[in-house]
Amino acid sequence: MNCREPVTEDQSTSILVDKFGRRVTYVRISITDRCDFRCVYCMDEEMTFLPRAEILSLEEISAVARAFSELGVGKIRLTGGEPLIRKGVMSLVDEVGALPNLDELVLTTNGSQLTKLSSGLVSAGVKRINISLDSLKADRFLQLTRTGNLDTVLKGVDSAVAAGFKRIKLNAVILKGRNDDEIIDLVNYAREKEIDISFIEEMPLGNISSHDRAESYCSSDEILEIISQTYTLTSSSESTGGPSKYYTMADSNSRIGFISPHSHNFCGDCNRVRVTVEGRLLLCLGNEHSVDLKGVLREYPGDLTKLKKVIVDAMDLKPERHYFDNNADPQILRFMNTTGG
Ligand code: GTP
Ligand code: 5AD
Ligand code: SF4
Repeated sequence: MNCREPVTEDQSTSILVDKFGRRVTYVRISITDRCDFRCVYCMDEEMTFLPRAEILSLEEISAVARAFSELGVGKIRLTGGEPLIRKGVMSLVDEVGALPNLDELVLTTNGSQLTKLSSGLVSAGVKRINISLDSLKADRFLQLTRTGNLDTVLKGVDSAVAAGFKRIKLNAVILKGRNDDEIIDLVNYAREKEIDISFIEEMPLGNISSHDRAESYCSSDEILEIISQTYTLTSSSESTGGPSKYYTMADSNSRIGFISPHSHNFCGDCNRVRVTVEGRLLLCLGNEHSVDLKGVLREYPGDLTKLKKVIVDAMDLKPERHYFDNNADPQILRFMNTTGG
């Protein structure tokens, strides 16, 4: 510090670092808790959604995105619920996509609206999207999502491929006894479409009634072993800035990712925070440490300096790691849909 200029208040708050020295460069914003699906690992069959007044307006979400981008966050992901069913989502995408300091605006979707929206998303500057797909069998897809239509989603994937996103990734949550027999079929589908696929270990968020999470747990190592019987996988150091650890195959451009919150904890490299649909800045998916941004937005409308100060101060609350345990009752009662999937 001695030979440098003293750090002014503005410079000192220009990036986000937590007390473990981890730099936050990625924000996931849940823009709606609603969804047209009810995936068994994400929601209960009967869900109550939040009243409109309790969720951030599109203008408020836009202000939050701007504040983070001014604080050195280069990657913003819009999630939900299903982000593409929020009314006005495309104007939000346009606005956030135009933020000058942003490297990437990305989106996670269940694919149900993509035939209508893929090309608009590409035009708005969305370069990568992640699409959830847990089964290629129509009856099973319906069981796992409770309301989803496989054909619509597969057409959505095709429309995304045709629209020209730079990268598309499928996300598959593998549950033993429910879809673990489709691992190779899902890999083959990703290869055929020349897109990536990540396999996710289910996390204990919210009380669900459809299955016992401990019994259905399928570790990334088991999945890797199954895929390795058909394809030679090479460990890759490539990163998309998310938690996936990627492998490549010599004869394909598709990458195979593993998101392993249980078996290979990745909290040490955590670079992200979330904003819930109610405008709570959540410092970790697996803990409740949070700060209310909605209150700040509504008490000081238009005051980005105030908002940024609250965000900077919140970094001290970021916990070191999560302690997920599928064998115990969930410690985190909120469901994934309010949190930002
Ligand atoms: P990329 O930008 O493509 O790397 O995306 P991503 O993997 O960050 O995002 P996506 O929305 O596809 O999330 C895939 C899975 O990873 C979801 O189940 C997320 O909840 C999970 N995930 C993302 N970030 C974290 C995290 O910080 N902790 C945990 N435990 N899971 C996370
Ligand atoms: N555990 C792991 N992944 C989950 N998702 C939703 N709920 C859970 C959970 N409990 C996944 C969805 C989607 C991604 C954003 O989060 O499948 O692909
Ligand atoms: Fe909807 Fe995604 Fe949750 Fe499935 S995982 S119910 S698609 S928010």
